[in-house]
Amino acid sequence: MKIGIGCDHAGVKFKEQIKDYVKSLGYEVEDFGAYTTDRVDYPDIAKTVCESVTSGACEKGILICGTGIGMSMAANKMRGIRAALCSDTYSAHITREHNDANVLAMGARVIGIDLGCDIVKSFLTAEYVGGRHAVRVEKMMAFEEL
Ligand code: RB5
Repeated sequence: MKIGIGCDHAGVKFKEQIKDYVKSLGYEVEDFGAYTTDRVDYPDIAKTVCESVTSGACEKGILICGTGIGMSMAANKMRGIRAALCSDTYSAHITREHNDANVLAMGARVIGIDLGCDIVKSFLTAEYVGGRHAVRVEKMMAFEEL
């Protein structure tokens, strides 16, 4: 499974550590930047990572900014994206199981790296269960046509 990852200037160090961790779990990772702490606009990175998910080039995406909020808001504007901002491991696996989230957002200024790694593992190893949740996901995705 290939994972697309990206961050803004607030999340560069966090992203590097998460990237190494994701690789250590056996996943392939494509890094869409940022690569330095020079200021960059989070929607630009969110767009690139989300496009890699909707095109099928990457199966899931991980987005990091200061709070994770801007990245998640930008990502959820994109057709086909279900981005979840997570600061705990329970939400990280439930958003896969119930919401079929395909992008995980985290705040590098909000959580520590050890928790971030645990959140990533919970997110990547959980599976969508479908069933009654599929109806809700379909209803939610129909909002894209409004
Ligand atoms: C950048 O200073 C900060 O606004 C950004 O990383 C993020 O927190 C936005 O939601």
